[in-house]
Amino acid sequence: MRIANLPWAALAATFAHTASAQTWTACNPLTTTCPNDTALGMSIRVDFTKGEVNSFVASGTPSYDGEGVSFSVARPGDAPQLISTFYIMFGRVEVTMKAAPGTGIVSSVVLQSDTLDEIDLEWLGVDNGQVQTNYFGKGIVGNYNRGQFNPAPNNQAEWHTYTIDWTQDRIVWLVDGTEIRTQTADSAEDNQYPQTPMQFKFGAWAGGDPSNAQGTIEWAGGVTNYENGPYSMRVKSVAVSDYSTGKEYRYKDNSGSWESIEAIDGEVNGNIGNVDVITITASAASPTGSGSPAYLLVA
Ligand SMILES: *[C@@H]1O[C@H](CO)[C@@H](O)[C@H](O)[C@H]1NC(C)=O
Repeated sequence: MRIANLPWAALAATFAHTASAQTWTACNPLTTTCPNDTALGMSIRVDFTKGEVNSFVASGTPSYDGEGVSFSVARPGDAPQLISTFYIMFGRVEVTMKAAPGTGIVSSVVLQSDTLDEIDLEWLGVDNGQVQTNYFGKGIVGNYNRGQFNPAPNNQAEWHTYTIDWTQDRIVWLVDGTEIRTQTADSAEDNQYPQTPMQFKFGAWAGGDPSNAQGTIEWAGGVTNYENGPYSMRVKSVAVSDYSTGKEYRYKDNSGSWESIEAIDGEVNGNIGNVDVITITASAASPTGSGSPAYLLVA
């Protein structure tokens, strides 16, 4: 995974980044005209105990069983992840999960845009009691002053639901429905408030791989010993609400501001009143028993 080897990660001791603030995007709308982003445009719930759905693509090899989807780090280079095929333009994601144990192991839940706006939740395998919350604007890491550690007791052994609720005005992070942090747009540094269509990604990786930069290894809590693994993050289900509607999101200019985003055949913030209305429940149970997953179709 590209993230694990970022050289600048060595620059910051505490919040050396992580699943995030990566310097790479397939097409950056700040500098060029990019393909439109596929919009979710509604609210969905995905039950991974039933198997895989095609609204997420896998990187690496997540595996499925009756407990949901499992992201296992067993050897160097393992960084299994699911990445949404859709984008949300403001919205809410909820993940019911157990974080992975293990020195140097990181479990990540990330919202990230094509302009490298980003909102994160990250659990360190050495810290069963906290979650790190973080955000970035336009791939700028500043001096890594955005990260915070917030309470998340017993995050490895027990199922908990973690939420990111993101509007044009503020980001709220929650654990089991209790707010642990709020960041307002007004109090973010200039141009640093996330405000462009985001993909939703989650998975586990070894920040403590010996090949990583020293700062990354230290941030991740130490060098990973693969012989004690595999180390697994588990996700039972997710719920995602796009606060906007439409088929695709288009950048009307290179500003990267939310006002520059057009919702094609829909409206930015057009779904914000419907947070609790789940339009589609994805169930991957295969009625034919063929072993092939049934799919949730998005857009
Ligand atoms: C985005 O969608 C609009 C409306 O359908 C279309 O006119 C435009 O060509 C699309 N942009 C790109 C880059 O595909």
